[in-house]
Amino acid sequence: MQPADPGQTPTPSESPYPGGRCVSPLNEDVAPAAPGEFAALEVGPLRVWPPVVLAPMAGVTNLPFRQLCREYGAGLYVSEMITARGFLMGNRLSVLLASSDPSESPRSVQVYGSDPKDLGEMVRALVDEGVDHLDINLGCPVPKVTRSGNGSAIPVKPRLVARLLRAMVANAGDVPVTVKMRKGIDDDLLTYLETGRVAQEEGIAAVGLHGRTAAQLYSGEADWDAIAALKQAVDIPVLGNGDIWECWDALRMMRQTGCDGVIVGRGCLGRPWLFQELAEVFDGRIPANPPTLGEAVDVMVRHAERLVEFFGELHGMRQMRKWVAWYSKGFAGSASLRGRMAELERLDQLRPLFAELDLSEPFPRRALRVGRAKGSKKQKVKLPDGYLDQRDDDTPPKGPHSLAEIEAWERSLQGG
Ligand SMILES: Cc1cc2nc3c(=O)[nH]c(=O)nc-3n(C[C@H](O)[C@H](O)[C@H](O)COP(=O)(O)O)c2cc1C
Repeated sequence: MQPADPGQTPTPSESPYPGGRCVSPLNEDVAPAAPGEFAALEVGPLRVWPPVVLAPMAGVTNLPFRQLCREYGAGLYVSEMITARGFLMGNRLSVLLASSDPSESPRSVQVYGSDPKDLGEMVRALVDEGVDHLDINLGCPVPKVTRSGNGSAIPVKPRLVARLLRAMVANAGDVPVTVKMRKGIDDDLLTYLETGRVAQEEGIAAVGLHGRTAAQLYSGEADWDAIAALKQAVDIPVLGNGDIWECWDALRMMRQTGCDGVIVGRGCLGRPWLFQELAEVFDGRIPANPPTLGEAVDVMVRHAERLVEFFGELHGMRQMRKWVAWYSKGFAGSASLRGRMAELERLDQLRPLFAELDLSEPFPRRALRVGRAKGSKKQKVKLPDGYLDQRDDDTPPKGPHSLAEIEAWERSLQGG
């Protein structure tokens, strides 16, 4: 599928989809944006149209994938989280993942760290490199991270949040800094409204809320009412996040919550064309239907070529294994790829994987809302002993220090 040709939508009578459109029953009656219905998202000096942000995703939103998504649509495409300590110590992978290309504009990096000094230094270094947007991750639910008071444990301590944000904003100059968070630890310990207020006081340009607690991980449905409540509680722009699987969900989320923009995560895994569909509906048009299997394979090959160029053939093709599963999700015969995918090590092995499949198969409607990358389990969030007795404390938690610790830490984040 090449960027935008909405004229190609088949007439209902020749279409494989009911009514001619590949849309789930939930969204059948959702209308594209009316003229002037939504404004561009303003993040400091940046004006983002459509108001769509690619979610930071570890192991996913590297430069090759961001470039691929950008070719389809428009918006803000955020890097995966980069650990401040790893970046500052020159850890090869952290530096590579934070890197960009002159064609990438605006350039956006998500930072992860819990030491104000590290965050300040990293922000200054990235600003000197010409970054256009910085985000801090306050929502990571991985047990290894929360157990030491990091990640989604940080918002439990509002004074610590304030210290971290202040250090970033003070070093960012005119570059806008945003926050991404979850609702809280669990239903009994919700922190998002307070964190939103602290963010506003500290000069944060926008707050993004994933409508789940850390205990929920990725289970259940995202709570869009919480996004609406945050919008009521702060004056800075609010970005809603959670369960945007179809472009129509983005419109529904904005209409229902009043949020200023949306963050799209798992919905685009193996579906970079979702950004084209989003651009279309925000501009008031009905998008073309998604690609057939053969067209999806062409996109996959382009994706693989970019990963190979960026990471080298072996590392790039090993990453492609998960992408093959996501791109082929729901197509007939995709299960037969599973065993062979694990052997992918060279670019020329990719196309032959699909040789036996029917490349004319239309995109399966049932795959639109199927979860990718994360399961449906929940967890009991691990916090340091006595953590909840010291909520007024602003002492930064201990993070990884040696390069070996940082590498182990980053491996666990890839799972988060
Ligand atoms: C594979 C994967 C990696 C993720 N890595 C990060 C990350 O690096 N930083 C972050 O803030 N959130 C991360 N997340 C969470 C997403 O940014 C997003 O908040 C979450 O997936 C909910 O949005 P969705 O329902 O659209 O997927 C990750 C999610 C996935 C699926």
